[in-house]
Amino acid sequence: MGDFLVLGIETSCDETAAAVIKNGREILSNVISSQINLHQKYGGVVPEIASRKHVELIMPVINQAVEEAGIKINDLDIVGVTYGPGLVGALLVGLSAAKGLAYGLGKPLVGVHHIEGHIAANYLQFPELEPPFICLVASGGHSHIVYVQDYDKFEILGQTRDDAAGEAFDKVARAIGLGYPGGPQIDKVSKNGDINSINFPRVYFGDSLDFSFSGIKTAVLNYLNSLEQKGEEYSIENIAASFQKAVVDVLVNNTIKAAKNKNVKTITIAGGVAANSLLRENMSTTAEKSSINVFYPNPILCTDNAAMIGCAAYYEFKHGKRANLNLNAVPGLRLGER
Ligand code: KG4
Ligand code: ZN
Repeated sequence: MGDFLVLGIETSCDETAAAVIKNGREILSNVISSQINLHQKYGGVVPEIASRKHVELIMPVINQAVEEAGIKINDLDIVGVTYGPGLVGALLVGLSAAKGLAYGLGKPLVGVHHIEGHIAANYLQFPELEPPFICLVASGGHSHIVYVQDYDKFEILGQTRDDAAGEAFDKVARAIGLGYPGGPQIDKVSKNGDINSINFPRVYFGDSLDFSFSGIKTAVLNYLNSLEQKGEEYSIENIAASFQKAVVDVLVNNTIKAAKNKNVKTITIAGGVAANSLLRENMSTTAEKSSINVFYPNPILCTDNAAMIGCAAYYEFKHGKRANLNLNAVPGLRLGER
């Protein structure tokens, strides 16, 4: 049997992305066209602008992915595409392109859940990684602790009750005058700050593994307001470092608790916030004390990309999942739902 080739397509937010994956785990190409600079002046993603840009970019990005993979479009075995959750107008662009291609090529179409894609990013980086494991998925839209029982079996053990972790990074960055997206900026300036200088709140809900990040954003704003009212100077580096430490503490503690509850010895992290240097470091050092292994992908596979979607589509296909051409975009799609 020859190689099995998947075309992955991702347009759920502000990245237009396409990738070709060989036999589930090998990246032949991974093209990501980020629109970040288009949205920067608005301080966040403007959905209508994102949709229009996806329309312009989707076919060039797909063609580039096929070309860089060194294959012909007819060599593809399946087309995998994110159909939720995300911005509906943005999702529809990738989905329509995927349907057109699948129909035109006479190849199966597979719908992928965006978070399932983030989880799969670790399979691309670590050939030896197999379920079961606990995955912390933290991005601009989600903060989930997921028990990955099998390639297509997920149990959500905890999630945010308000803002996502990445959203908190973005909002706090804006409050202290750093640009969008805020996560990478806070990560950077924190290196010159004191993590113990300000005691921002860490929210826990008893035995629940849920998160809440809206309170810490308010705490940062209150801290800024009170100093401004008193006419006192503040250190952006200290605020960033203390905020980052508070968020990372909660993410690490709940994830390790989840691994202990499920008695698994492997934790993976995924999503844009998984690129955070303190999260990577603290998750590893804390887990090590309980003999738990931690995996995290290269930053380029943490933020939105289509390689992870191609990988997830491969496993979905292997488990018998196929979509038909009626597949619609589902902005609020829940993990494990079809
Ligand atoms: O996964 P992603 O690209 O898109 C979503 O699905 O949301 O995640 C983007 C989020 C943004 O909120 C961004 O600020 C955050 O990930 N992020 C980071 C870092 N890099 C990206 N947060 C903290 N530290 C980072 N180094
Ligand atoms: Zn994402």
